[in-house]
Amino acid sequence: MKNEQIAELLYQALETEQGGIEVYTAALECAINADLRKEWQEYLEQTHNHERIVLELMDQLGLDPDLDTPGRLVVRHIGEALVEAMEMALEDGPPESAQLVACECVVQAETKDHLNWELIREVANKSQGELRQALTAAYDQVEDEEDEHLYHTTGWCRELWIESLGMPAVLPPPEEEQEVKTAIGAARARKARRQML
Ligand SMILES: [Fe+2]
Ligand SMILES: [Fe+2]
Repeated sequence: MKNEQIAELLYQALETEQGGIEVYTAALECAINADLRKEWQEYLEQTHNHERIVLELMDQLGLDPDLDTPGRLVVRHIGEALVEAMEMALEDGPPESAQLVACECVVQAETKDHLNWELIREVANKSQGELRQALTAAYDQVEDEEDEHLYHTTGWCRELWIESLGMPAVLPPPEEEQEVKTAIGAARARKARRQML
């Protein structure tokens, strides 16, 4: 495996968690549904913890957490753009629209976050010794939470959009009610929602 690219993955993972804190802070300004607010409050706290876990991991592996790689700067740029998009929506549109924008921004941020951790797990599975131990200990702590961040928010995004179109929505979304943690589970929840209405 390419050690340099493993380090790059961890730099991007750290930046994603740090940007995630900003994304959730802005998203909470846009959230009007009480259940969604509660959910995102929880995800914000978990994201703070994920940042701490990546920092610990970097410390163990001797990586400087302040190093900006070109790839990391791209992740930062996208995170800042997501925050800007939410600020725009808050300023110019009705609150319901800003909430939809926030849902989409969180889904985009969490798609990257989810990918990072999936890759960290892949690297861990193919590694040995100290690296394997350190990566495995880290992803074991965040894996289930990242699944929820992505799949549950995707459900919120879809149902709030459906509600905004004047159609019957399932709120909170079935992904949350069924505690979905896999892509297959999310597909099942989407299928089941049609039978719920
Ligand atoms: Fe995270
Ligand atoms: Fe996340």
